[in-house]
Amino acid sequence: MELLYLSYRDVSSLGITPAKIIEVVEDAFRQKGDGMVEMPPKPGIHPRPDSFIHAMPAYLGGSDAAGLKWVSGYPENPSRGLPYISGLFILNDPDTGIPLAVMDATWITAYRTAAATAVAAKYLARENSETLAVLGCGTQGRTNTLMLSEVLPLREVRAYDISQQALDRYEDFVRGEGLDLEVMRASSPREAVSGADVIVTAGPILKNPDPVIEADWIEEGATAIPLDFDSYWKSSAIASMDKFYTDDVDQLRYYIEEGWIRPIARVDGDLGEVVTGRKPGREGDSERIMSMNLGLAIEDVATGKLIYDLAVERGVGWRLPL
Ligand SMILES: NC(=O)c1ccc[n+]([C@@H]2O[C@H](COP(=O)([O-])OP(=O)(O)OC[C@H]3O[C@@H](n4cnc5c(N)ncnc54)[C@H](O)[C@@H]3O)[C@@H](O)[C@H]2O)c1
Repeated sequence: MELLYLSYRDVSSLGITPAKIIEVVEDAFRQKGDGMVEMPPKPGIHPRPDSFIHAMPAYLGGSDAAGLKWVSGYPENPSRGLPYISGLFILNDPDTGIPLAVMDATWITAYRTAAATAVAAKYLARENSETLAVLGCGTQGRTNTLMLSEVLPLREVRAYDISQQALDRYEDFVRGEGLDLEVMRASSPREAVSGADVIVTAGPILKNPDPVIEADWIEEGATAIPLDFDSYWKSSAIASMDKFYTDDVDQLRYYIEEGWIRPIARVDGDLGEVVTGRKPGREGDSERIMSMNLGLAIEDVATGKLIYDLAVERGVGWRLPL
């Protein structure tokens, strides 16, 4: 027996468009809302302070796709010249359980997370959202800007990062992707957040964070999508939202129990329920809505299956003996 191995270069060479990734990730949320997925909350190990290595299995009944991501996040890695996030994804044959492929999961994580942001924005953000705030302009800052540009008429981005080098790379990315966006470098988190229609926070996840975003910085009608748990957000700011969604309520509860997220008073539901119309999306221009996206295995399985099918079709990758 053989499996297909796909490196980062193999995966990124397939030229999958942002629109296609958003489509499969939205479909994964639809399957979740319809009760067609199996996805236990992801367990993690933490070999170093603020580090994690998570195991993320899921089965998508509608697509008949099964797989697991083994992904790590090490906040100190960028200072070593290594990526914060790295990992592998295994796709299994749902009939036999035999592994079909092992592939880089760094690319998958970068793009499927941003696609989930775009799905949240499609249902929760004001359709005329033009101003984006990005706090933490690394990998996620870049891919989230790309994906949000697919679903919103963005004109301006207020970019905040503690690293000037990260901001330089962010601006190069925006130009390189040909996005019609004016980049304003914010001098503080407050300058970035005030007046923004959509706010994405993508700094490090810290077990004992020192959150800064206050309730009164957030504009009426704004949509907030934290990717770094509540590390950037004061509890009072989260509590001030008119609606609070997450991508998975069980996963959120698990992180709260484990002490990674502070208790959240009111949780209105998850994105699968919103996508399938079981819970309301945006119901007015003045609502302030948060979707705390924790990152789900269904997004990885949906994207991993898309990558595998394309790689097989085009003969990309390496066949390895099992
Ligand atoms: N929810 C999800 O599905 C999901 C998926 C992937 C990554 N993440 C999380 O997103 C975050 C970003 O991941 P990444 O891969 O982009 O990492 P990255 O290292 O590429 O980017 C992080 C950026 O944050 C900047 N930064 C550090 N401290 C900051 C601060 N206080 N204020 C502003 N910027 C700061 C860094 O300079 C860097 O540019 C991490 O917390 C990661 O765990 C979430």
